[in-house]
Amino acid sequence: MSRKYIVGGNWKCNPATMKEANSLLKEWKKSPPLVDPSKVDVVICPPALWMSSLGESIEGLGMKTCAQNVGKNDAGAFTGEWTAANLQDLGITWTLVGHSERRTKYGEKDEDCAEKVAKCQEAGLGVILCIGETLDEREGGKTDEVNKRQLAAVLPKVKDWSKIVIAYEPVWAIGTGKVATPDQAEETQAAIRNYIKGAVSADVADKLQIQYGGSVTPDNCAELITKPNIDGFLVGGASLKPTFMDIVSTVG
Ligand code: G3H
Repeated sequence: MSRKYIVGGNWKCNPATMKEANSLLKEWKKSPPLVDPSKVDVVICPPALWMSSLGESIEGLGMKTCAQNVGKNDAGAFTGEWTAANLQDLGITWTLVGHSERRTKYGEKDEDCAEKVAKCQEAGLGVILCIGETLDEREGGKTDEVNKRQLAAVLPKVKDWSKIVIAYEPVWAIGTGKVATPDQAEETQAAIRNYIKGAVSADVADKLQIQYGGSVTPDNCAELITKPNIDGFLVGGASLKPTFMDIVSTVG
């Protein structure tokens, strides 16, 4: 079946100032064609502090604002956190969950991701669930096992699959310049889809958008997107440049 593409720009903790962020959005505005929402959804993940103030400019480009993270808690005594319901209240309809930097640098476990997904489902929030293996795991032949483990933790919490996108991001490809080959990404993403087919249903698997993330650039995205199980990208470093729009227009 044909699935709509989805491209994410994850700015992580960048750029250094909101002035620079605004300049980047202005650059994007200058580079037609703008996003064609009938062909591709584009979500931008700015640092949390700027989500509200940049939201209007992001949406003016035909894109959606996406949080980089969300708490697993409801409102209460959780210093430094925010809830899925807080995001909905601000009109933010997407969040990342389980980015490898959250998993490796902040100790998030599969179970934490599952709880976060459960809260997002309750709030009706779209989730881009990030999964992927380390270099050791790939070299040890454990790629599919790791992806299945990360997915299996979350599956019981999902009631509405229309609100879930998977981002397959091999950790060894993130920020390294070592992009997965189109065949590597395709093989792994086909295995992810096949796992969902068995664990959930063929219909859900067919409709599920699976992004590839890890050193995607305007130069390597055209070949990757020819693969049938790659439904878009989650872009880090290259989403901080004016040429991010080249990735969007290559996809959509
Ligand atoms: O969320 C985005 C990924 O971590 C990819 O980052 O494109 O800089 O490798 P990257």
